[in-house]
Amino acid sequence: MRQALAAGVLGAVAVAACAPGPAQVGRAFFDANCVACHGADGRGGPAAAGLSRPVPDLSRIAARNDGAFDRNAVMSTIDGYYRRGDPDHPMPEFGATMDGRLVMVETEPGVFTPTPEVLVGLVDYLEGLQR
Ligand code: HEC
Repeated sequence: MRQALAAGVLGAVAVAACAPGPAQVGRAFFDANCVACHGADGRGGPAAAGLSRPVPDLSRIAARNDGAFDRNAVMSTIDGYYRRGDPDHPMPEFGATMDGRLVMVETEPGVFTPTPEVLVGLVDYLEGLQR
């Protein structure tokens, strides 16, 4: 029984090591959808000029917020439902374009919300850019 359990755990670890995790899917989505405006390092890309609104430096999100990186707020911004069709907000709405796996995220203490893995990966990536 214990050996079967150990084999099962090892098997799950092996599968997890092969399948792309949130970090890889988030980085790939960022490279494909965000660098034009935000740049690979989050400090601004070539398409930022001429937008109706300045593009914020994504490596300073926490610095602008007294050092706190609010993952829920960042996920909500990327999801972008509130911007739908609003010409004053040039950043596209991305939540509707995210397919793939859902993972459970604790969005409030004890409240778990099914969230696109790619969104979690994006927030992980952006958190890693903070300086
Ligand atoms: C067309 C240009 C454009 C693209 C593409 C774009 N953004 Fe933005 N982004 C903006 C602008 C402009 C803002 C300023 C807020 C607004 O529009 O309301 C912004 C704001 C943000 C913020 C809020 C920063 C803060 O200080 O709170 C985050 C996080 C963000 N973008 C992440 C992303 C991610 C991740 C992607 C790709 C999935 C992306 N953006 C794609 C233009 C863009």
